[in-house]
Amino acid sequence: MSQSSRNWLKQQQRDPFVRLARNHEYRSRAVYKLMEIDRKDGLFRPGQSIVDLGAAPGSWSQYARARVGNTGRIIALDILPMEPLPPVTVLQGDITDAGIYRICLESLAGQMVDLVISDLAPNLTGIRSTDQARSMALAELVYEFSGRVLQPGGGMLIKLFQGEGTDAFRKEISQRFERVVVRKPAASRDHSREFYILARGYDV
Ligand SMILES: C[S@@+](CC[C@H](N)C(=O)[O-])C[C@H]1O[C@@H](n2cnc3c(N)ncnc32)[C@H](O)[C@@H]1O
Repeated sequence: MSQSSRNWLKQQQRDPFVRLARNHEYRSRAVYKLMEIDRKDGLFRPGQSIVDLGAAPGSWSQYARARVGNTGRIIALDILPMEPLPPVTVLQGDITDAGIYRICLESLAGQMVDLVISDLAPNLTGIRSTDQARSMALAELVYEFSGRVLQPGGGMLIKLFQGEGTDAFRKEISQRFERVVVRKPAASRDHSREFYILARGYDV
């Protein structure tokens, strides 16, 4: 095992959110980021229609499924395979691929959605400028996608990495949403540049 794998394993074993997720049968510790934001900002309501981008292994969809209940609807998409999570519609493919993007739109069958949640994170190359550019390109794509599917008043939660382009992105989306706030949940590791932007009140 390489040194970096050993360090990762040590970090996982020490991480309280990893243990909590395991105990509560969530597929990933990432659920605690969504849960904290939901508790603070009240993201979900029964019956909502949600699109979850970058969904695998599926803890956000698990949480959202419980919060929207039987009358809600969730479409989850990831480039990686994801274990079924009925009644969530699971799509596999790269959101930057025009064909998959279209399939995702088509699966909504014209129904507008209440909330787009994106935990999308590009595969890291280690070259900071490249990783930042890829992350911003994904965020722009999620914003564009949201503009097509959100109903008036809808919301969008997007993961970003602090760096070039994030301030401009926040300003850009503020023109189409009534309220835009930044969130850094406790489960988001301190040393990580990761944070979330929550935009609400979509103005079509
Ligand atoms: C941090 S993980 C998401 C964890 C998830 N929110 C959960 O609760 O289980 C980020 C995900 O983004 C996916 N991803 C990255 N780039 C993608 C792309 N271009 N299209 C679709 N999924 C992508 C990765 O495969 C990965 O599963």
